[in-house]
This record gives sequence, structure tokens and C-alpha cells, in this order.
Amino acid sequence: MLEKVPEPRLEMPPQYDWDELVQENRVHRTLYTDPNIFTLEMTHIFGGTWVYLAHESQIPNNNDFITGKLGLRPLIITRDGEGKIRALYNRCTHRGTTLCRWDKGNSRSFQCPYHGWNFLNTGQLRGVPWPDGYTAEIRDEKFNLAQLERVESYRGFIFGTLNPDMPPLIDWLGPITQPIDDWLDRNPGGKVVVCEANRLKYKGNWKLAYDNSADGYHVIYSHRSLIETENRFREGEKEKGMAFYKGTPDKLEMYVAYTGNGHHFKDKRPNIEKRAGGLWAIESLHPGMEYFAEKLRTRLGDKAEAALDLAGSEPVNINVFPNLSLLGNHIQVIEPVSFTETNAVWYGTKIVDDGTLGQETVDDINALRMRTQEGFPNLGEVDDISNFEQIQVGLACLEDEWVYMNRGLGLPERFRTDDQGVIYGPATDEVFMREYIKEWKRLMKTEPHLVVRREP
Ligand code: FES
Ligand SMILES: [Fe+2]
Repeated sequence: MLEKVPEPRLEMPPQYDWDELVQENRVHRTLYTDPNIFTLEMTHIFGGTWVYLAHESQIPNNNDFITGKLGLRPLIITRDGEGKIRALYNRCTHRGTTLCRWDKGNSRSFQCPYHGWNFLNTGQLRGVPWPDGYTAEIRDEKFNLAQLERVESYRGFIFGTLNPDMPPLIDWLGPITQPIDDWLDRNPGGKVVVCEANRLKYKGNWKLAYDNSADGYHVIYSHRSLIETENRFREGEKEKGMAFYKGTPDKLEMYVAYTGNGHHFKDKRPNIEKRAGGLWAIESLHPGMEYFAEKLRTRLGDKAEAALDLAGSEPVNINVFPNLSLLGNHIQVIEPVSFTETNAVWYGTKIVDDGTLGQETVDDINALRMRTQEGFPNLGEVDDISNFEQIQVGLACLEDEWVYMNRGLGLPERFRTDDQGVIYGPATDEVFMREYIKEWKRLMKTEPHLVVRREP
């Protein structure tokens, strides 16, 4: 059974002029400060388009589950007894409490902690305590859990939508699949396993994180203390980390690319020396790294440098609208909480032995990846988050209405567009923001026809 999802019932729904609020060079402050716009986003964006939910490696076996979110909707993302991936609403159909309070586990059914209604992981109501207190109506499918009508994966990344009219996931991803493929295929076997996360939160709107996701303009200013720390560790050595942003970053070969549907990526790989060990050479120091690097060099000899590159932070920022980023070796998920509160969750990733490197070497590479993955979320993301929070403070100035994203605008010689429509520009330009916010505006203008499914 499919049920139509109604428009959010706002008290006195305001009429927005989206073309006034989102202009070619600027957006209005209320995109970040208006709780009604946030409420509409939770349907038009987080519901109306494909949204990243989880990674398949988090639920490898039948009946595995994790809890997650689609916007503000709590979900149980599970692989049912037949291996089908489902995104169930984590909301008891009796009186509405969340059904599952665990982060993850393995279960064929979920019993509500409030009055004990029990649901199969297909969403069907399996039974209720003392059923003789109900008429036969209790067997109606309206008591089965709501679930997302469409759930699809791309190479392990699970997405869901309430919008039955969305194109297949792969078509919607389009050319952003190329950097995602590169990101996976640099590892033998082309897979990653998602580990635990650094969980950060900030007092600011969720779009502030997406605005920043390929921002090459802020790096040398916002992350100055991190870059200085990384580069005073070993004086006279090759510059580490993001040091290539100093000087004139737009003259380097790195670039930003907008690939459509809100997706974009920053590619810093052309800055890296093309040789085995070229990436590892700029990895900044992390506690414990010498021990594992030495072990790999002793075991693998001249093959060690290529193995060490697998532990180095991949120099790309790949951003899939609205909530997924692959940054270095992390998976970052943006979770909106309120118009002025967001979770920024940074999952580590491990590589998997496909027989090429052997388990011992893969374990050492993964130990190093854990060290490198501790770096940016602890020492860099905090710089970004403090800017996001301070933007939210600054946007309280009602009379100063506009946020500018105009760097590069009016300078067409800075850009080129290829035959797939991908726009390429210099690393510091805000073209990706201007383009993604057009997609945001299109979705906010579109009347969504959303549905939820209940199994019969
Ligand atoms: S709220 Fe779930 S059984 Fe009552
Ligand atoms: Fe940053």
C-alpha cells in the first residue's frame, strides 16, 4: 500500500518568492535562519530527492540493522531475512514512540519498548500483547510500519527517497560516479568498510557545511593553525597536508567541478607527485605512524611506498547533494537537527583484503588509516564548525540581508564546461555553491508528490 505524504502543516504557511531569495550572486539570510524554510526542506530536499542513508558494510548480514535518519524522520535501515535492504520508519504505529533505541544490531523483529507491539523487519505488525482487546481491525495494514518506497545503492552507498518520480539512483548521480569510482578503485578490490565515527555537532544550519564542502577559498585562512602545526613538525621536508593552498592556489592544477543535481568535487590529485609514495610524502605526522610505516617498509621493500599511499588521505572532496561527502579517507554525513543545529558525522573507512596485499599488510594499512583519520576531524573540522557557528551569529543582523557566493562570477575565462555539462573552475571559486543552490531552489519550488509504503 502506498500512502501520499501531505505537505507539512505550517501554522500560517508563508509564501516564499524563491527567485528573490536565491539570486545569481547571493542568497538571502533567511535560507539559514527561517524555521519554516527548514520545515519545508525536510520534505522538499530530505524526502524529495535521493538522500544518503547508510553504507552496506554497516549491515553486512541478513537481519543486520542500524538506526539512521531521513531529515528528521528516524529510520531503521535493515537487511531483511531475504537480504533486501529496507528503510523502515523507526516509529511505532501505536502511539508513535521510536521502536528501536539501539544504534545497530541483528534482529528479525523489533518490539516496542512502550506497550510491546512487535514488528517484523519487513515492517509488518507481527503481534500485539492481549489481542482480544482489539477488533479484527488490528490486522489492517495501516498498523504496519511505514517505509521508504525507494531504496537503492551505488557501490555500497545506500540512498533512499520518498519521491516515486526520482530517476534511478545511478542516473541521478551522473558524472559524480567517476570520482566515487576512483575513490573506491584506488584500493585493491575496490571496496571500503565503514568504521565508527567522530561525531561533531554545531549550532548552525546544515547548508553551512555543504557550502563549505568544496570551498578552496577558506583553507589557508581558516586552517592556518593546522597547516602550521603539520609543517613545523619536520622542517626542511616536503610540505605536508593542505600546504599547497598557500601562495596562488588558482595557478595550481587542482580544480573544482560541478557535475549536476547539486553534486560537485574538489580534485587536488593533480597537485600530487605521480610516483609510488607521492601521496604518503605529504601525509602529516600522526602519533604512531612511524611504527607501522617501518613495519610495512621492512615487509614489502620497494612495494611499501605504494602500500603507504593507500593509507594517505586521498586528496579529493566529493560531495553528493544534500548530505554525503567523501573527504580524504572519511565519509562525512550531514544530519540536520533544526534550522540552527546540525550533526557532522565523520566515519572512518578501512580497506578490505582481496588477496592482493595479504591480511597482515591490510591490517597495518588500516591501522595507519585510523591514525590519519583522527587528524582532520579533530584538528580541522573544528575550524570550520566555529565559522559555521559564527555565520549563524552574524546572520542575526536582520538588516544586512545577503550572503554572497560570487567569487568567479562574471569571469567566464575562469571556467570551462565539458560535453557532459560538467563545469570546471579554479580551486577557490564559488561556482559549485551557485550551482548547487540552483538545484536547492528547483526542489523548493517543485510540488513534491511523496509516498510511503506499508507492506500488505
Ligand atoms: S507506542 Fe508502541 S506499542 Fe504503544
Ligand atoms: Fe575547512
